[in-house]
Amino acid sequence: MSVTLYTSYAKGFLRSHELAALQPQVTAAHELLHSGNGLGNDFLGWVDLPVNYDKEEFARIEAAAARIRRDTDVFVVIGIGGSYLGARAVIEFLKSPNYNLLVKEAPQVVFAGNSISADAMNDVLALCEGKRVSVNVISKSGTTTEPAIAFRVFRDYLEKTVGKEEARRRIYVTTDRARGTLKELSDREGYETFVVPDDVGGRFSVLTAVGLLPVAVAGCDIAALMAGAAAAREAYTDPAIEVNDCYRYAAARHAMLRRGRAVELMVSYEPRYALMSEWWKQLYGESEGKDGKGLFPASVIFSTDLHSLGQFVQDGSNILFETVMQFDTPPSDLTIREEEENGDGLNFLAGKTMAEINRKAFEGTVLAHADGDTPSLVLQLPKMDEYNLGYLIYFFEKACAVSGYMLGVNPFDQPGVEAYKRNMFALLGKPGYESEREALEKRLGR
Ligand code: PA5
Repeated sequence: MSVTLYTSYAKGFLRSHELAALQPQVTAAHELLHSGNGLGNDFLGWVDLPVNYDKEEFARIEAAAARIRRDTDVFVVIGIGGSYLGARAVIEFLKSPNYNLLVKEAPQVVFAGNSISADAMNDVLALCEGKRVSVNVISKSGTTTEPAIAFRVFRDYLEKTVGKEEARRRIYVTTDRARGTLKELSDREGYETFVVPDDVGGRFSVLTAVGLLPVAVAGCDIAALMAGAAAAREAYTDPAIEVNDCYRYAAARHAMLRRGRAVELMVSYEPRYALMSEWWKQLYGESEGKDGKGLFPASVIFSTDLHSLGQFVQDGSNILFETVMQFDTPPSDLTIREEEENGDGLNFLAGKTMAEINRKAFEGTVLAHADGDTPSLVLQLPKMDEYNLGYLIYFFEKACAVSGYMLGVNPFDQPGVEAYKRNMFALLGKPGYESEREALEKRLGR
């Protein structure tokens, strides 16, 4: 097993009979998922994706990535939500949050179209100045406003700087197999396209072309990522929570919610994990937060945030529990050297590595938080590499689906995301939204 769940720092909150009492619900959720009879069952493509993926397309992704690595300085990835977070999270976890500053022989990978900020867009345009640029626009629906605006801007930029013909060669589109504005545009213009499968929702799509193309461009081993996910798929088929840590995690967070701990705080002591937490927040927030139910997913990086939010976690309102990511082997280490004068008084750390010190920070914190009535679940991973990350991604996806079914919600829809869009379109005067416009303007006092 690649991911191990420890519950010993949450003892008072997870008495063994409490977890055991949830087994029937876990088993029912497992059966709903595997029989395909649950809510949202037309979005279960992710379950077998690690083995059933399109091998011909996978080869095309690898070939396109190799080409982009040769002919591109800045690779602009346009997308939002599930069409953005996974790729960025994987790259930052496997390479570094400073990837673009450190990379020498490969393209920088920058992200656009994940907000409506002109300033953010202008920054990316400035980064492209004088560089060889390629663009990957990712949108399952092909109509999402943020990436659509960004694609219009970057298509125009490419056509003006390298001409229409070369721009066509430098645009890669990831979208629906057959439908949507983006697909129609791609067919018309002759862009190379990759597919977001019909039965895989945005937040479950990181192991499709949505995540794989940008991740491969950054030089990550996407075959190892898929192999890790395939191993997790094999590992989590038994519904019994005493042997299935994925389901035990789902049960444990459910038990926390029942005890009134409605906020799950994802913690990592590695800044590389920050974007993975963002990906996890979307996965769980969008899957569970509906029908007036669900845990609120939040995240911190320790020890950084121990100096800001630590006070609340230790001593504030008792609304949260922590899920702490631990990695046996960080990607690199550094030893503190002895200093004769010891002017800073740090010689008690001499000879120790920063990984050891970070481990002690974790141990000290988890015990202090337990004393402050904040329980922690701990998820341990042996290494921060592609295989283990693929495994972890599948672990979270499956635990999320089972958690959603345990709550009695449809884990695969997102009806609440539409409300702001309708208002925004009405206020912007999009054709078809005329009737809403007047009422909204009135509410805004105009
Ligand atoms: O998980 C989801 O469904 C959303 O986050 C979508 O991925 C996001 O809204 C982007 O949608 P699209 O890929 O259709 O542009």
